[in-house]
Amino acid sequence: MSPEKEGIGRRYLAETRYRRDSLGEKVSYPRAPLYKEYPGAVRRVALSPEPTWRPADLWDCLRRRRSQRQYQARPLRLEELATLLWATQGVTLKSRNYLLRTAPSAGALYPVETYVAVHRVEGLEPGIWHFEIPDFELALIREGDARKALTDAGLFQSFLGTAAAVFIWTAVLNRARWKYRERAIRYLFLDAGHICQNLMLAATALGLGSCPVGAFFDGEVEEFLGVDGLEEVALYLASVGGL
Ligand SMILES: Cc1cc2nc3c(=O)[nH]c(=O)nc-3n(C[C@H](O)[C@H](O)[C@H](O)COP(=O)(O)O)c2cc1C
Repeated sequence: MSPEKEGIGRRYLAETRYRRDSLGEKVSYPRAPLYKEYPGAVRRVALSPEPTWRPADLWDCLRRRRSQRQYQARPLRLEELATLLWATQGVTLKSRNYLLRTAPSAGALYPVETYVAVHRVEGLEPGIWHFEIPDFELALIREGDARKALTDAGLFQSFLGTAAAVFIWTAVLNRARWKYRERAIRYLFLDAGHICQNLMLAATALGLGSCPVGAFFDGEVEEFLGVDGLEEVALYLASVGGL
């Protein structure tokens, strides 16, 4: 079957392949700001910048990592959440304009934004928090119990409501598209995969459970975060809680 006759997925892959004679269409996109900030946030909480946990064995964490969907009722400690955030997108090197992170990113463009739906975390009100990378802070962008809305948006997967917190990753398309054009879309998901694996390994090291979630109603998650679903789209979720 020719690529034109197949579904959108095959066509997308076919049309975004790099070949010796072409690096793809020359569509131009504007450059989006490197970071998203919420200056009007309800509240901001500074996180302690470097994790101070006892060492964990990488090989053991790789062996023990599992998707966990049942969690204790205990809240997460703020330091546990800070450590998980650091593991996913912590800045480990400042180099010229770049804030290089724990996870790699195509072209060091970091198109992925991190939000946390906090259900039970000591010292944080329940609600939606945005992770502000340059300051290593959390900004409360919407207060309130998000458990039902998030479970419903996640195809009714109940652990999205029983977890202590749910990471929600979106991508700002033009942060990557100005450089990689349509091929950038491939990289968004690769970036998010690295980030989620870092989260899971860090959760394992801390004795916490986590589960990646790719099944959700995109528009509902985007509406819930207040993002437009065009320039910024929902990519991936992951629940976290005590075991
Ligand atoms: C891209 C992706 C999407 C996933 N989506 C879901 C999901 O929506 N719900 C769920 O319960 N698990 C989800 N999972 C977890 C997988 O079911 C799990 O990784 C798989 O069963 C292997 O088990 P393990 O992670 O314990 O090794 C997802 C995993 C990945 C990588």
